[in-house]
Amino acid sequence: MTISLARGIPAPECLPVEELADCAREAIGRDGHTILSYGSTLGYAPLREWIAERHGVDPGRVVVTNGSLQAFHFVLALLDEGRVIVERPTYDRPRAIMQAEGREFSEVGIDSDGLDVDELEDVFAAGERPALLYTIPTFQNPGGVTLSEDRRRRLARFAQEQSLPVLEDDPYGLVRFEGEAPPSLFELEGGEVVMYGSSFSKTVAPGLRVGYAIVPRDLASRLEPLAASTYITPALVAEATLYEFLRRGLFEANVKRVCGLLRERRDAMLEALESELGGRAVWSHPEGGYFLWLELPEEVDARELLEESSKAGVTFVPGADFGGASNTLRLAFSYVSPDEIVEGVRRLAQLVPASPAAVELG
Ligand SMILES: Cc1ncc(COP(=O)(O)O)c(C=O)c1O
Repeated sequence: MTISLARGIPAPECLPVEELADCAREAIGRDGHTILSYGSTLGYAPLREWIAERHGVDPGRVVVTNGSLQAFHFVLALLDEGRVIVERPTYDRPRAIMQAEGREFSEVGIDSDGLDVDELEDVFAAGERPALLYTIPTFQNPGGVTLSEDRRRRLARFAQEQSLPVLEDDPYGLVRFEGEAPPSLFELEGGEVVMYGSSFSKTVAPGLRVGYAIVPRDLASRLEPLAASTYITPALVAEATLYEFLRRGLFEANVKRVCGLLRERRDAMLEALESELGGRAVWSHPEGGYFLWLELPEEVDARELLEESSKAGVTFVPGADFGGASNTLRLAFSYVSPDEIVEGVRRLAQLVPASPAAVELG
């Protein structure tokens, strides 16, 4: 059977199936006349309030969408003309969305401390005025790296000085296995130019399709007609089901449980990489999230390797799909079991040549 180290989805046991079934029944029973009808375009009001309170903002700034990727679509649609800056590498879906919509973007590198803020400053020094910085500062997809606190402070200051709109995409921040969580860019900057996006996909269940963005009030007002013309009303049954889950106080315990399950998988992957690929490749060491980034000897082409590895029964995503170099790849530890991870890494390692990798990442 093929082992997928490609899929960035939660292991089935991460999903709180019974609890959500019960919450759905309760939500419809209690508030069915509201949530089974058309309703608030910007999301189920009690959920917006819960999110607003958690982030210390006015509920009018919270836009609940059908997954956080949709929030990216909306923000992009209302953006001024101009280029978007993304990380290199970055999440492939925003790249594909921008390519499809003809929005130009350029890339700024990351290292083991996250976005290279010097390189970003160079872009401005060269006279460019981008319309947006899209960044995933915590447990980045695909790199698995986290922006250091020092760089967060610098970036927040720089964005403010330059009035650079930033979308901080943070679906993985709570999926932390160890270490102190640094403050978000949004908190550090005060939420004036930094917008914050997150989701319940990784902390509760992606099938709920509940994500959100915190944006300036005037942008929320401009977003409303766009959301209405896209879907009239978002999926209120899912939002109310999630709200019931939150209201019952099940969220924190679920996040803890999910972190335990994913930590085991991250540990299994790091140990397997050390024993199977030590000295032949380098990889990031994420303290949370779903992914790590692997850099192979320069002569290896990850797309060709994927063809071979698929035949050998293991898959991954080539780094080039995220804008990365041809000898890099993303491994997801979120989905398969720890034993399958060990076997998957073993199968992969058998196909990697013996020469040492040159560059250090994290
Ligand atoms: C960085 C990042 N942003 C957004 C998403 C999309 O999440 P959602 O399910 O909330 O649309 C993902 C999903 O993998 C992701 O990795």
